[in-house]
Formats: sequence, C-alpha cells, structure tokens
Amino acid sequence: MTSDLFSTPDTKIRDRAEQLRRLLQEHGHRYHVLDDPQIMDAEYDRLFRELQTIEEQHPDLASPDSPTLRVGGKALNAFASVRHAVPMLSIRTETDTQASGAANFDSRVRRELELEESAPAVDYVAEPKFDGLAMSLRYEAGILVRAATRGDGAVGEDVTQNIRTIGQIPLRLPESVPQVLEVRGEVYMRRDDFESLNQRQREYGQKTFVNPRNAAAGAVRQLDPGIAAQRPLSFFAYGVGEVSRSEIGGPSFATHFELLQTLKTWGFPVSDLVSTAQGADGLMVYYQSIGRQRDSLGFDIDGVVYKVNSLALQTRMGFVTREPRWAVAHKFPAQEQLTTVLGIEVQVGRTGKLTPVAKLTPVFVGGVTVTNATLHNEDEARRKDVRVGDTVIVRRAGDVIPEVVSVLLDRRMPDTREFSMVRQCPVCGSTAVREAGEVDYRCTGGLFCSAQRKQAILHFAQRRAVEVEGLGDKLVDQLVDSDLVRTVPDLYRLTLSALTGLERMAEKSGQNLLEALQKSKETTLPRFLFGLGIRHVGEATAKELALHFGKLDSIMDASPEQLLQVRDIGPVVAESLHTFFAQPHNREVINNLRDCGVFWAEGEPAPVSSKPLSGKTFVITGTLPSLSRDEARDLIEAAGGKVAGSVSKKTSFVVAGTEAGSKLDRALELGVAVLDEQALRGLLDDRA
Ligand code: IVH
Repeated sequence: MTSDLFSTPDTKIRDRAEQLRRLLQEHGHRYHVLDDPQIMDAEYDRLFRELQTIEEQHPDLASPDSPTLRVGGKALNAFASVRHAVPMLSIRTETDTQASGAANFDSRVRRELELEESAPAVDYVAEPKFDGLAMSLRYEAGILVRAATRGDGAVGEDVTQNIRTIGQIPLRLPESVPQVLEVRGEVYMRRDDFESLNQRQREYGQKTFVNPRNAAAGAVRQLDPGIAAQRPLSFFAYGVGEVSRSEIGGPSFATHFELLQTLKTWGFPVSDLVSTAQGADGLMVYYQSIGRQRDSLGFDIDGVVYKVNSLALQTRMGFVTREPRWAVAHKFPAQEQLTTVLGIEVQVGRTGKLTPVAKLTPVFVGGVTVTNATLHNEDEARRKDVRVGDTVIVRRAGDVIPEVVSVLLDRRMPDTREFSMVRQCPVCGSTAVREAGEVDYRCTGGLFCSAQRKQAILHFAQRRAVEVEGLGDKLVDQLVDSDLVRTVPDLYRLTLSALTGLERMAEKSGQNLLEALQKSKETTLPRFLFGLGIRHVGEATAKELALHFGKLDSIMDASPEQLLQVRDIGPVVAESLHTFFAQPHNREVINNLRDCGVFWAEGEPAPVSSKPLSGKTFVITGTLPSLSRDEARDLIEAAGGKVAGSVSKKTSFVVAGTEAGSKLDRALELGVAVLDEQALRGLLDDRA
C-alpha cells in the first residue's frame, strides 16, 4: 500500500473502513465479552492494523465509535464499572516471527531516542507474554480494595470478589508500600490446572474450555464467586498503574527491572523468566531461548514482551494513542489455526487399532503444514462432534501430533452428519470390536488384514527394531499388495527376479533391498523382541525381558507369574506376552525367521541391580562429537542406566552436545549435573 493510493479517500476505502469497524466490533465483543472468539488473534490483529493504517492516512475517516479508540470490549452489566486512574495500555505487536523482529524494535527505539550509531546498546527488560487476561489490582494503605479488568482501557469491570480468591494475589502488603499502589499483571491458568478443570467439567457433564486463556477469562467473569473460587487461577505482575508519590523513605526505582524486583519483595508473583537484555542481540537470544522453552512451561505464552528498562527513557519516549513507544510484544508462530475438515478417515494400526483421522485443508500451524489431525477414538470424535465440512481449530504444539481442539459450531453448514465409527475394518472388512472398558475399536482380522500386516512389517523393519534400511511404507505397500510378502519371514525369501518384477523397481534398488535384508539378519534379542510388535511391549520392556531371561526360548515359555518378576512388567504386559506366545502362528513366524537365518547373541539370565549406572537417569540433548544419540543411549543402558526424554528433578545427568536446546536450559535451571561426551565416557570407564 503506498500513501498515494490514499491521498483522496474514495468510497472503496470508506467502505472498507466501515466494514473493518463492524468486523472488529463483532469479533471484539465475542472475544472480550462473550469469551467465545471466532477468529484467530493474529487475524484480529491484522484487521485492527489495517483499520489503524487507513485512519492514520485519512484522519477524515476516523470515527468516534472506532474500535481503534479503545482496547477491548465493554464491561458486562453485571459487574460494576471501574474507571482506571491510569489507563490500561495495550502494546504494539511485532508480527515478524523471526528473531529479526527484535531488531526492528531496537532500531525503532534507537531512532526515536536519536541515538548515534556508536552509542552503546540499549538496556531492555524482556518478559514472557502471558496468555491470560490483564488485571489491575488497587491497594490503598496496603489493602487490596479493588481488582479490575482492562475493559476498554479506560473503564473496566470490578471483579474484586473473584480475584480475592486467587491465592497468589496478596490481600495485604507490607507497611512500607505507597499509600496508593496499582499493580498490573496477567491472570492466567496453569496448563495442569486447566486439564484438571476440564476433566472435572466433563465428569459433571458441563461445558469444557477450549484453552487455558478462555477458562481463566470465564473464571474471572464468573458471577458467582463461589464457583470462581473453584477455578484455579494464577497471577504474574508485570507493571504498575497509579502509584502515589512516595512518602519519606518510600521506594523509588530508576528501572523497570528494579520495579519488578520490588513488587516481588512485596509479595507479588513475578516470573523467573523475566530478564534484562542488551540491544537487539540480547533480545534475539531471549526470543529464541523462550521459544525453545515454550512447550515445557507450565503455562501458555504467545510471545515475549520487550520494554526499555530505564523509566526516565520510557517517560521521554511516551505513547502513541493507546500504545507506549517503549514496549513491543514479539509473537511466536501461532500454535492454533482455523481450517476445514475435508473428510474423516479411519486408519488401521499395527495391532488393529482403528483411529479416526480428520483430513484437513492444509494449514500452516506450529511451524509446519498440517493436513491430518487425529481424533483419537470414537468417544473423542463424538465429544468434539467433528463433522465433514466443519470449520475447526487445529493445534500443534512442539512435536506433539496435530489435533482438533474444537469445532466452530455457528459456522456449521446445514445437512452435516454426526461421525459414527465403522463397524467393519475399512481395509479388510473384518468385524471391528470395542471391548468392554476399552476406548478403541480394533479390527479382528489379525494377519488376514493387509493394513495390519503392512504395519507389522514396517514395525519390524524400523530403525530401532531389526532395521531393514530402505524398507519404507511405499515399498511395503507394493510388496503386500502384490502378494510377494504376507508375513515378516516372507521378506527373507524375496529374490531379485521377484523384486524387479515390481513397478518402478530397478535392479539396483532390488539389490540394495536384498543387501539390507541380509545385513538385518544379525540383530540383538531386544531389537528382535521389540520388532515382533507384541502389544504393550516397547523398547524398554524388550530390553528388560532380554536382560532378565537371556534367551528367547525362556521368554516364550515363561508363565505370566515368571514374567511378572521382570522389572517394570505388570499384569497387563505379562498377559499380553503370554497370549502372544501361546498363538501357534506367532511361534511359527519366529521359527521361520530363525530358519531364514535371523540370529542374535543369547546370554545367561542376569540380575539387574549390579550394573554401574543402575538407578541413574540420563537425558541426552544436542549433537555429541563422536557418538550418535542412539549409541550414547546404548552405552548408558548397557551400564544399567536409564535414558529419559525430558529433564526433571529426578534426572541424574544431562549429556549435552552442541546445539543443545531447552533441555540444557532446564537442567541448569534445576541444577542437574551436565556432562559432555568425554565426561560421560569417563563415568562409564570409572564404573566399569
Ligand atoms: S505490559 C504498557 N507485559 O498483553 C504495556 N503486558 O496488550 C502494558 N501481557 O493484555 C502491558 N504479558 O495483559 C505487558 N509481560 C507482559 C505481558 C503483557 C502479557 C498482555 C497484557 C495485555 C497485552 C498487551
């Protein structure tokens, strides 16, 4: 958009401004008053900025009822209105979700402060942008007299009753505080509290909440403080509103950071993630570091906030309409997006488990393009009532598989049909059953079902099992569909001429596969056991079994009681193993594999506890100089240690290489010992 375009406001622009106001009005109302948003925050921000730009370029188009003149929705009638002594501001949003967004802000600050290029880096405070709702807490003579929401920035709602129920918010402050003190911060709900709240809502047949922010907003606006008290809320302070001139000896601060530290000493929760940062580089490092920790925090954040640290400089920079020039919110890529459901497919897993999967219009969320989202099982799909054609919110956080959060019901088209689970396997047509107490339907076709056979073969051939290099899902589809392979042992009976008969299979590729198969024959007992795909037997269990029994035949002939003696094996796993080995066709598969030349070293049954690293838990992160992660893991496990995926207080050591990320940060935070590869080797040698 060039400014020329705007020199004479034509009706088009006037109409657009009007349209934007209506849209923003409606969505603002849904978001702030009804707690039921219908568009993504990013989309709202975009519309808001578009209107702001138009009004800036065309002052004659500005209108007294424009949403740009206020910050949020009107106070609900049911709560008394409160005029804020000092308006509650909003912050400008930096939407460039690259770290370079931080540099944009720094340049703007330097320009506005008219700093020379040679001037030293600006001192900032960087904070998480908490995803809850803004709150102003007014204390007079150290007593909490009023808690108010932001409302439209000038007038909010009096929610004192509900806020008093938040244990983290002090009701009385130390003597030394100013006569009038307004503390501003964010009321939010922790993720674990959110999960248990929704769990409870479900148990009582009540409506569940889409995300912690909506749950927090609902709790704050709950008219019955008794109910509000049962909704677990938390609070972080991030600033102040009105503060009376300090009496003799009262506190005075020169920087925002000092202010926050003082609030902390007065009893307000201030996030430990708040930090000072120097210049654009400091902000960028902070953005990246918090971005890495985002998924492992106990609460939702949607970005970070940068603030000029010096209060004198803040005053000098001042405000533009509703936003301070000295602060900016730097967003992270959205983890939730809207898209539409193109279809619902039922996929068949290795053990016959049938999973409904929503096929979506591709959407960029959480840093990747998502086309499928799991609906988990029949109950979940019904509970969310996802239908073909629906507009849905999809969420992808971290490495977690994408899922449908909820359906926007008022966008539902007429004539949609409720999803119902298939009663037959969509692949082999066998009956699908859901056993009592189970959430999943299963195909009863077993090895008759080609989908199950394909999954079983892929499972066997995967890297962490018997590893047949290059045997991926396309090739398995071809092998099974052409009937060259029915069960795993058939793989080892493949010939070059049979393979080259397949479409798109050149002689070279055929040879490569045969070589990979040959190589895979020499394996280990844990890998082989895991590769069999016995229900509930993952890698860790396979390793324990191999260690305990030493020989496959002993495992195959073990009674459930004997199996129960293995570390970490409970009745469900013992039963599953026993049932598996009781089936003649499973024994036949194993015998066939042995006949085909698959072999592994067997040992004597070994007591577990004597190992040097027994009882120690390791987490591996980053790239180690000479060991792959799998190799490091094998070494640790061989010495009796355990390898876990995430760092907690129970972690004994974190083994860190280059580009170690949030796990290293977490280790440092918790004071867990950190080893490099050399130190790990030392530990293994020492104790050998
Ligand atoms: S400072 C003068 N700091 O983001 C700036 N706001 O539009 C006043 N928010 O809903 C706000 N975390 O409640 C500030 N660390 C933080 C924040 C934060 C979240 C929210 C705030 C408001 C929005 C700002």
